[in-house]
Amino acid sequence: METTLISSRIKLVNLLNESFKSQISKDVLSGLIKAQKSLPCKYFYDTRGSKLFEAICELPEYYVTRMEMSLLNQCAPLITDGFNKGNLVELGSGTNWKIRTLIDQLDDQSLNQINYIPVDVSKSAMIEASNELVDIYPNLKIKGFIADFTSQLNIIRDKEPMIIVFFGSSIGNFNEQDRELFFNEIAKLLKPEDKFVLALDMIKSVETLEMAYNDDQGITSEFNKNILKVINRELNADFDPDHFEHQAIFNNEEKRIEMHLKANRQIKATIDSLDLTVRFEKGETIHTENSRKYSKDCVKNMARQANLSIYKWHTNNEDNFSIVEFKKNLN
Ligand code: AVJ
Repeated sequence: METTLISSRIKLVNLLNESFKSQISKDVLSGLIKAQKSLPCKYFYDTRGSKLFEAICELPEYYVTRMEMSLLNQCAPLITDGFNKGNLVELGSGTNWKIRTLIDQLDDQSLNQINYIPVDVSKSAMIEASNELVDIYPNLKIKGFIADFTSQLNIIRDKEPMIIVFFGSSIGNFNEQDRELFFNEIAKLLKPEDKFVLALDMIKSVETLEMAYNDDQGITSEFNKNILKVINRELNADFDPDHFEHQAIFNNEEKRIEMHLKANRQIKATIDSLDLTVRFEKGETIHTENSRKYSKDCVKNMARQANLSIYKWHTNNEDNFSIVEFKKNLN
């Protein structure tokens, strides 16, 4: 375990136990030898991919970030109400700008007794974002974990009161099994006074959903194809992104947008670091992302399964984006 003191107010603990190279090698190998080829969406986000995602958030078609921010601005005082000491934990903290809506609600006296705890896999992003935050908030103390919160949630266990937030509707990337595991882990961590605050993109018209992932400028297409550039670089592969088409369609049975990369010709690609040759028929796809959309019943079921209770449900005027506060069910 490696702890880095960035400054008197920033302490980061690196808990990643596997190198990036060995992780991506395993993931790409297991994904590309399956009948339906797939790649984990976390590999979109190298420097270029993160920039492309930021550009997506500004697109007229991509409503997700705007809806979330406007709802978050509205309900931030309710989320932080009564929270004056302990740990404010953010899963998948990234660039840290959403958390500011919550920190803005905390007075100086509370801030003195609160730690902000970002959890993310990107060390460089966390250092940069943490430095920015302590500049803006002179009383803020940060204790970050560079970790994979899908498998290392236990690290945030603590006696102090805690609010855990997970923004972006990124929960939508989880498959059903992983989502259920994740909820159960959260339930185990929560003490009676603690809250889990989750942003969820709700089901909308198929047209709205599909437009959000098929923008006119083709930025989402670039973002999708970026995963091939990441694999080319990291694993010495020779995918030609021009030989694939971006595809994003709403799967109504699974209630999710599925992104694929579809081969526009017969392809043979080699991945040197894996000693692997992969072949594609024309029209064959690599499944690169799921983005689940939720109904109210679905959210209630998820809570029930994990023995969580819904404490507060915040929704926007159109009633199609939710921020839900869960508590541990006491029975
Ligand atoms: C960051 C996972 C919430 O699923 O909407 C945006 C990623 N993919 N456009 C989403 C994404 C294509 C985004 N999340």
